[in-house]
Amino acid sequence: MDLLTIGVLAIIALATLIYLYFKKRFSYWENRGVVHLKPSFPLGNLSLKQPHFTEFMIDIYKYKGGTPLVGIYFVTKPIVIPIELDLIQNILVKDFSSFHARGMYVNEVDDPLSAHMFSLDGEKWKSIRTKLSPTFTSGKMKYMFLTVVAVAERFLETLGDSVKLESQLEVTDLLGRFTTDVIGSCTFGIECNSLKDPNSEFRQYGKKASSEPPMPLIMHMLVLLYPDLARKLHLRALRKDVTDFFLDTVRSTVNYLKENNIQRNDFMDLLIQINNNPNEADKISLEEMAAQAFLFFIAGFETSSSVMTFCLYELSLNQDIQEKAREEITQVLIDHDGKLTYEGMQQMTYLEKIVNETLRKYPSLPFLIRSTVRDYAMPDSNLVIEKG
Ligand code: HEM
Ligand SMILES: *[C@@H]1O[C@H](CO)[C@@H](O)[C@H](O)[C@H]1NC(C)=O
Ligand SMILES: *[C@@H]1O[C@H](CO)[C@@H](O)[C@H](O)[C@H]1NC(C)=O
Repeated sequence: MDLLTIGVLAIIALATLIYLYFKKRFSYWENRGVVHLKPSFPLGNLSLKQPHFTEFMIDIYKYKGGTPLVGIYFVTKPIVIPIELDLIQNILVKDFSSFHARGMYVNEVDDPLSAHMFSLDGEKWKSIRTKLSPTFTSGKMKYMFLTVVAVAERFLETLGDSVKLESQLEVTDLLGRFTTDVIGSCTFGIECNSLKDPNSEFRQYGKKASSEPPMPLIMHMLVLLYPDLARKLHLRALRKDVTDFFLDTVRSTVNYLKENNIQRNDFMDLLIQINNNPNEADKISLEEMAAQAFLFFIAGFETSSSVMTFCLYELSLNQDIQEKAREEITQVLIDHDGKLTYEGMQQMTYLEKIVNETLRKYPSLPFLIRSTVRDYAMPDSNLVIEKG
């Protein structure tokens, strides 16, 4: 056989193997008699041009009433989408012990910031979650509210300056800078200044972390589908420059606070206190501290700026609702000596309804992820949701 023939045969053999592999993977739901979406080669039900996840969910909910769950394929990985409330409650609450993981990619060695609360599973997640929950006591929230108001005043100045220059403005960007400054202050205790300077470092790295993938899509799939292999290949899910920026920022902040013996009663302070715990097992490393701070930043700035953007959009379309909201705000301010206070804010229930409705129509994070940590036998059914 000449080289060409060998080459052609090898290609045919490889193509056949790949075909058989996908065929086997794509028969998972069929074999179990589960209602499912038909997958297409090679991405399964993943689409690269889906307008929004909610559109996808509309297709799934067509099956509501007929089945407690719908099977889909994320590339070759079978995924369960529960659509019956009882099953959802079992997964999130009653049988949580079988679902206390999100199955995200964690690579502590090559990608230290990936080891944050959102990605960690089981005991590790529980331990860090318990340590960090004091961040959200009402006392702490009241304290943070002062920061939010201070940044809101700077927001007003920047808004005033921009409307003097232009009749149109990119409100998504402006709100992203507002929330960047808020989270920067509340989480890192750092003045990010992105309202004043749209190209501030925090804003740049925040944008990079949330919108620029660290690797080509195909590698990203590898990380999500074959995490063990990805770890062996030293793949990272977060960009190196972003990682370095947040690690350096946390390192220098922690050093500064420690050297000058500053206690600010904020998030960094809480992390330092955890670190000062005499019990070695309860300590967390600098990398772990940075990972949590990074998560708060990423989880906080774009979720809240996008809900505010959509809220303003809806209010501009619904002038009567806008007018009613303005009346409520004006009245509450009058009742509180013209100041925006934490207590006053709680009284703005109409505004709260508007925010709730915005989150319903435009969920910033439209789905919850859980990964089965052990085989889960579905109640009243002989279906087993397999581990992983
Ligand atoms: C409108 C704004 C926000 C929305 C819609 C939102 C939504 C969510 C959702 C859906 C989850 C997943 C919950 C689950 O899997 O059960 C989550 C988790 C989380 N969010 Fe937010 N979030 C918002 C703002 C924030 C802010 C401002 C912060 C912090 C400053 C934050 C920090 C976190 C953290 C740390 C987690 C992980 C919790 C855990 O693993 O136990 N989020 N968020
Ligand atoms: C499964 O997903 C793929 C990709 O999004 C799509 O082409 C296909 O139509 C989906 N199947 C169904 C039944 O929706
Ligand atoms: C907004 O939604 C939250 C969460 O579901 C709920 O607790 C709260 O009562 C709602 N607020 C109003 C004013 O309806």
